[in-house]
Amino acid sequence: MAKKILIKTFGCQMNEYDSNRIFDLVKKIGFEKTDKYEDANCYLLNTCHIRDKAKEKVYHEIGRVKKIFRSKQKPLVIIAGCVAQAENQEMLKREPYIDVVIGPQSYHKINDAILSHIQKKKKMEETEFDAISKFKYFRKIKNKAGKVSSFLTIQEGCDKFCHFCVVPYTRGPEYSRPFQQIIDEAKYLSNNGTKEIILLGQNVNAYNDGKNRLSNLVTEIEKIQDIKRIRYTTSHPKDMTEDLIDLYKNSQKLMPLIHLPVQSGSDKILELMNRKHTIKEYLYIFDKLKNINSKIEFSSDFIIGYPGEKEEDFENTLSLIEKVNFINSYSFIFSARPGTVAFDLDVTEKKISKQRLETIQNKLYENQINRNKLFKNQTINVLVENLTDDKTQTFGRSEYMTSVVFNGNKEHIGKIVPVKINKFNRTTLFGEIVEDLDKKVA
Ligand code: SAM
Ligand code: SF4
Ligand code: F3S
Repeated sequence: MAKKILIKTFGCQMNEYDSNRIFDLVKKIGFEKTDKYEDANCYLLNTCHIRDKAKEKVYHEIGRVKKIFRSKQKPLVIIAGCVAQAENQEMLKREPYIDVVIGPQSYHKINDAILSHIQKKKKMEETEFDAISKFKYFRKIKNKAGKVSSFLTIQEGCDKFCHFCVVPYTRGPEYSRPFQQIIDEAKYLSNNGTKEIILLGQNVNAYNDGKNRLSNLVTEIEKIQDIKRIRYTTSHPKDMTEDLIDLYKNSQKLMPLIHLPVQSGSDKILELMNRKHTIKEYLYIFDKLKNINSKIEFSSDFIIGYPGEKEEDFENTLSLIEKVNFINSYSFIFSARPGTVAFDLDVTEKKISKQRLETIQNKLYENQINRNKLFKNQTINVLVENLTDDKTQTFGRSEYMTSVVFNGNKEHIGKIVPVKINKFNRTTLFGEIVEDLDKKVA
């Protein structure tokens, strides 16, 4: 019988990258991908632990799989990702339907775990922090994503221990992949059609292999001719070093959108969160980058209703949004996570947090709309990623990551084309290609 795996991914881009790499691995032992539950004989859930109900979501999903397979042979059920790391053996105890629990730093052991289960029906739990072996092993398995825009993880884990966050516990200590390993993967991706690389890390700008920083990596990747765009995420303000800021003076390929989470506009809250920087320091980075290139825009993450957040603190967050004019940002109500310092603190009243969230989201959405309005009747460069689902148009992204839908065709995929924008909504720009492909395409 053909081996078919269904991989479902929750959480951040690093989980997406991992899911793709896991598939590259399981292909080696004969698995094909499927998106139909009924066809799968292996079901892998790559989980996220960042906010509450994460664990319950997993059990809910398994309940769904159980129902689908009620009268059929049970699939091999694997729980990967950050919930797997946090809950480990507990999951096997609570839900006998689960066969393998594997944490994010142990994916190189996944084929052994699968084969051992198939042959010996042995349940497995692998949650060691072993990023070095993981990436050493991944190096031998080529990254087959081959997408126009591809993720490339350069750094894992976090040593910052913000008081609200589970990442240092689920992804372990900071580890930077060897420089050459990353460059080799970037070249491989480029040879397979990638035009944009998005460098990933929980603290991507903390990258440090002992000799090189993120700025050195970007400079080296810029030399790969067919890579046209470079992005990196997620950055911490504390690691926004001068060498990285200075890169924006001459870089031709770094995109002018910087995702720099601030979480709150209040120094008091930043301190309570253990964020290790002030608003003044954040604005110093903002001013410096804007002085280098006024086209640079910022996006951010915000946590609303952190324990101790008073109206005045929230007002400070709104003023910061006013000043920086963030686009494409994310905001969430604080969620108390077991094992973190903030778990036991008194939370802000739910009703107040909800009101504040609504206020901030309205403001952020307004910024997004206002930014998109500026593109109307402008011609912008779009990196074309794909045909739209109905295959009648093409889909790409602006330099600011905004989705663009226009009247292109298959030939445009992988190219940067000029598109005149004639319509927009909050999340998408719509337009028409302006020039003859032969004359204008980059
Ligand atoms: N390393 C990044 C940084 O320092 O900003 C963030 C990585 S975290 C995976 C992504 C976002 O999740 C954070 O920026 C934060 O806004 C949000 N987040 C993390 N823990 C949270 C919690 N306990 N409650 C609500 N949001 C949370
Ligand atoms: Fe979490 Fe980011 Fe803080 Fe690390 S720096 S603890 S990943 S929020
Ligand atoms: Fe979630 Fe883990 Fe990413 S907790 S946000 S999947 S690092």
